[in-house]
Amino acid sequence: MTQEAAFTATIEKDQRIEPRDWMPDGYRKTMIRQIAQHAHSEIIGMQPEGAWITRAPSLRRKAILLAKVQDEAGHGLYLYSAAETLGADRGDLTRRLIEGRQKYSSIFNYPTLTFADVGVIGWLVDGAAICNQVPLCRSSFGPYARAMIRICKEESFHQRQGYELLMTMMRGTEAQRDMVQDAVNRWWWPSLMMFGPPDAESPNTAQSMAWKIKRHTNDELRQRFVDMSVPQASALGVTLPDPDLRWNPEREHHDFGEIDWSELKRVISGDGPLNAERIEHRRRADEDGEWVRSAAAAHAAKKQGVRG
Ligand code: ACO
Repeated sequence: MTQEAAFTATIEKDQRIEPRDWMPDGYRKTMIRQIAQHAHSEIIGMQPEGAWITRAPSLRRKAILLAKVQDEAGHGLYLYSAAETLGADRGDLTRRLIEGRQKYSSIFNYPTLTFADVGVIGWLVDGAAICNQVPLCRSSFGPYARAMIRICKEESFHQRQGYELLMTMMRGTEAQRDMVQDAVNRWWWPSLMMFGPPDAESPNTAQSMAWKIKRHTNDELRQRFVDMSVPQASALGVTLPDPDLRWNPEREHHDFGEIDWSELKRVISGDGPLNAERIEHRRRADEDGEWVRSAAAAHAAKKQGVRG
């Protein structure tokens, strides 16, 4: 059997491709692209909520938020490690992010204006992330699929903490309820955009589905997320900001309004509300951390020398 036939047979049997297996260059490139973008999203995703750690309204909320943001850092690290198994270099990936040569999720370019945003990010943004990532636990590349299992478990804690925070605020004062509704109004549409462009305009979906990297298309997952969120919004007592949102008994799904795809394109291409700040912050963090990386490398080299 040729190497290519062995690769195809592994995919067809629904088994995993492992780092030492032969794989087509296109598969390797696609996996590095997706894993790197995903890792960058986790790391940049620490910023919007990290901004609220010092302003959390109670010790309990602060401890929860700290743990959550720390989890996101962990997710980024597993994912960079998964990309390294494909021959990518972590420092190089970070440079590509900072130089705007690699993407990260559009959602993290929006500002967090009030503490209700922390709850809504947990509920909607982490909810969308789970919806997108649970099927990735069956992705064909072994290290990515395995990293995703732990990531999804932690994301589901993130979603619950967000929903619980919102429930608490909704039981509070009128001003708190207004704050929640305002945050829902601002995050709903960007959350739907997280799933990517519509299928007809998604250049990567067909090949990624054939390679079983992706198990569902962008539109299928977006629909699943809308269907999941509607009853949750009603239990919470908030309105989703879409006058066209309604149950369609024939499709057995919710219909929803047209997404502003020009906004997604703008944000992806670097012109969202906070793209410049997010990247500048990441660049500074990378520079500030340089001495730690050099010290760790020097220490490792010294230990190697002693052993040798
Ligand atoms: N934000 C930024 N870029 C996006 C987004 C988005 N919301 N949606 C799509 N894109 C990019 C794609 O990465 C692709 O870029 P490239 O080809 O220039 O590298 C381009 O737009 C076209 O999109 P698709 O052809 O649909 O790309 P793909 O098949 O990779 O699907 C998706 C995009 C659904 C995001 C996929 O890559 C994926 O499932 N990634 C893993 C999950 C992930 O990265 N989540 C991050 C946010 S969740 C979190 O961190 C809490």
